[in-house]
Amino acid sequence: MIEIWYFCQKKSSMFQEKDFIAPFSYEVEKASFAWEAPSNIALVKYWGKKEGQIPANPSISFTLSSCKTITKIDVERLASFLDSKTTFSFEFIFEGNPKPDFHPKINQFFERIVTYCPFLKAYHFVITSENTFPHSSGIASSASGMAALALNIMSLERALNPQITDDYFYSKASFLARLGSGSACRSIKGEVVVWGENYDFSNGSNLFGIPFNEIHTVFKNYQDTILLVDKGEKQVSSSVGHNLMHEHPFSNERFKQAKQNLDRMKTILKNGNLDQFIALVESEALTLHAMMMTSMPYFILMKPNTLEIINAIWKFRNETKIPICFTLDAGANVHVLYPENVKVKVLKFISENLVDYCQNKQYICDQIGSGSKMLIKQN
Ligand code: PMV
Repeated sequence: MIEIWYFCQKKSSMFQEKDFIAPFSYEVEKASFAWEAPSNIALVKYWGKKEGQIPANPSISFTLSSCKTITKIDVERLASFLDSKTTFSFEFIFEGNPKPDFHPKINQFFERIVTYCPFLKAYHFVITSENTFPHSSGIASSASGMAALALNIMSLERALNPQITDDYFYSKASFLARLGSGSACRSIKGEVVVWGENYDFSNGSNLFGIPFNEIHTVFKNYQDTILLVDKGEKQVSSSVGHNLMHEHPFSNERFKQAKQNLDRMKTILKNGNLDQFIALVESEALTLHAMMMTSMPYFILMKPNTLEIINAIWKFRNETKIPICFTLDAGANVHVLYPENVKVKVLKFISENLVDYCQNKQYICDQIGSGSKMLIKQN
């Protein structure tokens, strides 16, 4: 008990992997929790990882607000603790329908985190989940989905061990989410989140994301309009892409550059220099895709309309001096980033000039948000 108390009182920057392994009682019979967790968009990109979902370079992201996953868990204690050979006991319902195709992913996630959450084997889980953004819109739901599930699991842990501090709760939620999908660790808490060790962020950790709060007011309510260029399945998954960085001829230079870029981004986020912000964000997006194009095997996730949009944004910016820029995820969709005070003009530009490049003229208006929210707690 003294040991648990000690871990729970530590500051997040001091948490180590072993601090997240805690003994539990199994006194809760039945409980229900629900959380919503947002998606996020990286400004400095994570691309390449080591064993155990450890990033090869640090990254930083804006947390989104409207694009999120809402997940509820109803848990009931099993008559006996499942043995090590048994798989976990759960059902998964996605947007109203049972989704057995998701079972292997959830099972793999539970396998990865059971060392830190041994109580998983003592419960049956009914997991009900939905996204606020259209299914197969090309927006990755793994970040928001894994973050929402991890937060629910932490609510169960807190019901079993009410002593844990908020700092421990959110750091471990991010730690667990990371084991589901790397970038999910940046979808827990804070408008801007850093993940990864770096000399300039002394409290940065490879194990979980940390909010970065020293943000200039120009970034308040910063807008992200996501242009849905291609809603199909990606031809190459992120995991395959990350793995290709192991043998990549430019990987070491890229990891070095990402570290420097994180350092620069920190200064820009503090001083609000939008010209520097634009240059760095766009360069990061194109570098991510350049890594894909120079992997072996190589691949291209951008589509012709991605390039049309990029060129139209550059032309608009040159002509109007309005500070908009683009970034890209691992896909063809374009995130258009801009300050709130130019929203009307930019949305007019998008609706008049860019919607024709979007599949079914679809786009999503989002903006920076502050992170996850608990919706239900019954235990
Ligand atoms: O979290 P993963 O394994 O799906 O990787 C995501 C990587 C990028 O979205 C391309 C970049 C990032 O930092 O989010």
